[in-house]
Amino acid sequence: MNTRIASCFLTMLVYACVPHVSYAGDPALGKKAAARCAGCHGVTGISAAPNYPDLAGQKEAYLIKVIKDYRSGERNDRTMAAMVGPLAEEDIEHLAAYYSSLPAR
Ligand code: HEC
Repeated sequence: MNTRIASCFLTMLVYACVPHVSYAGDPALGKKAAARCAGCHGVTGISAAPNYPDLAGQKEAYLIKVIKDYRSGERNDRTMAAMVGPLAEEDIEHLAAYYSSLPAR
C-alpha cells in the first residue's frame, strides 16, 4: 500500500479512537444558571459553609456525571435532587463548564 495513504489512514484511526474531552457547555450561560446554586456553593463556586462542597475548579466530566446521578437517584441526596431535577440537559453542561472554569480554593 502507498505509505502516504497508509499513514493518513493511521492518523485518522488514532484521531477517531482518542477520547475527545470537549463538551458543549458555555461558561457564560452556566454562570446565569448558577444563580440558583450560589446560596450554598458560593458565587464563585467556593462554599462558605462546611457542609456544602466547593465546585470551583472541579472536573467538567465529573460535574456532568454527578449532576446526572443526583437526577437519576444513582447518588441520593434530597437537597441536590430537588436542585437538579428541573435542569435541562444543556443547563447541566453549561453549569459544568462554568464551575470547572473557576479557580479552585
Ligand atoms: C440548599 C443548598 C444547595 C443548593 C442551592 C445547591 N446545592 Fe449542590 N450540594 C448541596 C449539598 C449539601 C451537597 C452534598 C450532597 C451529598 O452529600 O451528596 C451538594 C453537592 C453538589 C455537587 C457534588 C459535588 C461533589 O464534589 O461531589 C454538585 C456538582 C452540586 N451540588 C451542584 C449544584 C448545582 C449545579 C446547583 C444549582 C443548580 C446546586 N448544587 C445547588 C447543597 C446545595
